[in-house]
Amino acid sequence: MDNINKYIFEINKIKNKKINQNEFIKKINKYFFKFGIIYFYFFILKKINNKKKLGQKINFLKTTVLSIIKTNNIYKNYIKEDKINYDFFFKKKIYNLGAKHPITLIKEKILNILLKLNFTIVSNDKEIEDDWHNFQALNFSKYHPSRKMQDTFYINKKLLLRTHTSSIQIRYMKKKKPPIRIITFGKVYRNESISKYSYNMFHQIEILYVDKKKYISIINLKYIINYLITNIFGKKYKYRYRISYFPFTKPSFEIDLYYNKKWIEIIGCGIVNIKVLKNVNLNYKKFTGLAIGIGIERLAMIFYNIKDIRDFFKNDIRFLNQFKSEL
Ligand code: DAH
Repeated sequence: MDNINKYIFEINKIKNKKINQNEFIKKINKYFFKFGIIYFYFFILKKINNKKKLGQKINFLKTTVLSIIKTNNIYKNYIKEDKINYDFFFKKKIYNLGAKHPITLIKEKILNILLKLNFTIVSNDKEIEDDWHNFQALNFSKYHPSRKMQDTFYINKKLLLRTHTSSIQIRYMKKKKPPIRIITFGKVYRNESISKYSYNMFHQIEILYVDKKKYISIINLKYIINYLITNIFGKKYKYRYRISYFPFTKPSFEIDLYYNKKWIEIIGCGIVNIKVLKNVNLNYKKFTGLAIGIGIERLAMIFYNIKDIRDFFKNDIRFLNQFKSEL
């Protein structure tokens, strides 16, 4: 009996909001879920003869907890009014504090590192792009074979789901004059076969630095890449440059990270092709630029040792719970 008085005192305190949110959630769970305090007293009640006194107290506890739940904002999205009933009371532990998704964690890690190099984050959530921004302005002509690598989902003849965040380069350069020093990120889409390493939607971070010619060279590019990789993986991490081809950069490189005895392609980069500068009416005799595109999923797979890209998108709580401590 003494104890139940203690709980009544506690629940009254909660009702009057004298404790902080986190503690509040913990406490409510303590009363609420199966094998919680209320459940326990109902169990005792069944066993004793003189039920009146205890019964009243338990009922008071129960109705108080329910009224707190009904009026508290935290629970509003979680429980529909009609679900607050006995059954629910005893079966579910409510409100589990969430955690950031591993893709968000890695994205934030990369952005924080780049912010130290004086880049500005620019948002662009325009996932539906037109052919000109996604392809033509980036020097993928209409029937260029390199379009094949970036086949996508078309909405109609002109509109498509963007295949890369590089389209943001065009949108930004059209609006602003150099010096341009931006990072941006978002979802991109590809019509490709799904495997352990590829999915038809993934996330990219894009870096663009445009300035007078005397300020920018491949040395700056290498500095940024090295700064990024060593800050994430440590000074001794093994990575390599490979000469590559992207229509919008010249020269172009890909960067592979050494992981599990294999080279995994993570980053595309290069010096902005003068054709792209022309397309956005920038004077290519005066200005030049460097651009970098990073695949966030693959980086996260290496960082967290995740074997299958599909795990990111299954919403399996057992997978997501592993990242909880990083909240
Ligand atoms: N957009 C390229 C892709 O999705 C990646 C990329 C390559 C981005 C080179 C860049 C770049 O900014 O300079 O495969």
